[in-house]
Amino acid sequence: TAHAAPLADGQAKFLGSAYSLHQAEGFADYWNKVSPENAGKWANMEPVQGQMDWAKLDEAYHFAKSHGFPFHMHVLVWGQQQPTWMKRLPPDEQRRAIEAHFAAVAERYPDLDFVEVVNEPLHHPPKGWSRDSGGYMDALGGHGDSGWDWVITAFRLARQHFPHAKLLINDYSITGSDKATQRYLQIIQLLQREHLIDGIGLQEHAFETTAKVPMEVHRANLDRLAATGLPIYVTELDIDGPTDEAQLQDFQRVFPVFWEHPDVKGVTLWGFRRGLWRDKHGAYLVREDGSERPALTWLRQYVESTAAHPADAPA
Ligand code: XIL
Repeated sequence: TAHAAPLADGQAKFLGSAYSLHQAEGFADYWNKVSPENAGKWANMEPVQGQMDWAKLDEAYHFAKSHGFPFHMHVLVWGQQQPTWMKRLPPDEQRRAIEAHFAAVAERYPDLDFVEVVNEPLHHPPKGWSRDSGGYMDALGGHGDSGWDWVITAFRLARQHFPHAKLLINDYSITGSDKATQRYLQIIQLLQREHLIDGIGLQEHAFETTAKVPMEVHRANLDRLAATGLPIYVTELDIDGPTDEAQLQDFQRVFPVFWEHPDVKGVTLWGFRRGLWRDKHGAYLVREDGSERPALTWLRQYVESTAAHPADAPA
């Protein structure tokens, strides 16, 4: 691969990828926005309370900044990949630990572009995010009357600690379902009342609902989300490729729906080289010998062809 510049260079939308050491080679030939795949998850950063391991997140952050790419901090609050030591603490100490974590991240990385404050609120919880599971919903205020007090508290704290970053929420299997979109909008509107949210994240893993639901459903729900006035970011797109042809067809069917929506300001793939979490389903786009699979060659040509489309400046 010998491209001079990222795929979406000169485009008004970001085209990013999850970043990790095995996604580093060739990254800057294609993508122009960085989301750390695992390095920014609290369990990996602080496996033992008080002993921070910044090395991998530092590397991802400096990779982004040295290339001039925006850095998307994935993720502060999530019901998964959180430190197990948290569950042994009473809620008031959990709350102090959460604030200390936000403060430490903010201090170390002064110019985070995007901060994903809460990941998968519709899935982890509502059920099962107890202290037993390592969760800390109670420490953030629990459900409250709205059901989402813990999300609102997390965003209030994030606004204090990251006043210059764009604060995002993130979840999966949203646009493929009217009901899920409606529930997501309830949270988003609560956050908007306090000006706590700057963008809507959508994971869009094809194997969940993204490739299985008619594209018209996704378009209609993108429009509903866009009616909030907030920019939309596809944060984690991946499309399985049991064969080159199946992957190509799904890319051609799915990708333009998101890329061409005027309120979608960026699309981030959940990795592109072997070593992906969907490896055994063939979700990679670059073979081990460095050659492109057909879906990537198509994507490159397609994105170049959309350069003439009117598009807004990135948010
Ligand atoms: C995945 C990583 O890709 C894997 O390497 C890890 O083992 C598990 O997590 N939704 C998310 C991502 O928000 O953080 C997940 O990433 C994939 C699903």
